[in-house]
Amino acid sequence: MKALILSGGKGTRLRPLTYTGAKQLVPVANKPILWYGIEAIVAAGITDIGIVISPETGEEVKAFTGHGQQFGAQITYILQAQPAGLAHAVKVAQPFLGDAPFVMYLGDNLVQDSLTPMVERFKERHLDALTLLSPVPNPRAFGVAEVDESGRILRLEEKPEHPRSNLALVGVYLFSSAIHGVIATLEPSARGELEITDAIQELINRQMRVEALKLEGWWLDTGKKDDLLEANRIILDAYSNCVVNGSVDDQSRVTGRVSIGEGTQVINCTIRGPVIIGDNCHLENCFVGPYSSIGHGVTLSAVDLDHSVILQGARVEGIQHRIVDSLVGRRATIKPGPSHPKAMRFMVGDDCQIEVV
Ligand code: G1P
Repeated sequence: MKALILSGGKGTRLRPLTYTGAKQLVPVANKPILWYGIEAIVAAGITDIGIVISPETGEEVKAFTGHGQQFGAQITYILQAQPAGLAHAVKVAQPFLGDAPFVMYLGDNLVQDSLTPMVERFKERHLDALTLLSPVPNPRAFGVAEVDESGRILRLEEKPEHPRSNLALVGVYLFSSAIHGVIATLEPSARGELEITDAIQELINRQMRVEALKLEGWWLDTGKKDDLLEANRIILDAYSNCVVNGSVDDQSRVTGRVSIGEGTQVINCTIRGPVIIGDNCHLENCFVGPYSSIGHGVTLSAVDLDHSVILQGARVEGIQHRIVDSLVGRRATIKPGPSHPKAMRFMVGDDCQIEVV
């Protein structure tokens, strides 16, 4: 079995961050979202992985992720020249996939469940497609499935106006090579894309074996700021631990699960975990509250911060009010002006400069 991870797209819902970088490389707890998917695939015993990339962000994805040695996998990059849909990505990847069955994983999704039971079920039942489903409050934003009691999918619709259930297609699918024949006959949807949802519906129309599994744990589609903060909270809650490689002075108080990277200096700060702080950061006279991730090379000085993600190389100084629920882009600067407002909430893209006056 092979795996195909989709890491193209424009990431419009995470702008401005994604003007300057791939949405799949935005870190959650200081690790690119994409890497969680790679690790889940390798943990299910699949090591031959194709990653579909776009002309805009493909080089960055490649440079970050490499050819797979660090994951125990072999990674092949496949260029999709235009964002023409998920089924189009499969079409472009066909020379890589050949006749092998494969897992398709959307690179901006984070899924708690192990993929192993899914792979086993797919093989045991000789399926042509197996999808993961999860109940959502806003099914109109997703592909929506109607299933019978045995788990067989009866019908699928992409972003329906009048959803027939609240079961959304999670961004993880398994396919046999039958999917290629169906994709070859697809027409673009109303939004001009070759939809994987339509391809699966066509497998059903042709009486092929299509089933679904309900997801047991959480699932996060990290395409938006609040989802990203939520992903960060969940990952820090589940996996963070105490590893202090940097230096913490005697005036500082560090409690709970706090990880501090190499070369990082913490001076006169209070840090309450779960928190992760990257390498070569400088934190002085700060409070850093739970569920915060501080990327590598960040400077925080006289700042009170909580439930926020600060990306690599950003600098935040002298802000008197607490910064909460915020996402600050790479190399962004936030510094005070002569007076302060009462509260602040930010979504700051890479390279921005903000002065609070
Ligand atoms: C895509 C799929 C949709 C699925 C969703 C999961 O939507 O088309 O069926 O429910 O991923 O994240 P998109 O993110 O392209 O809008």
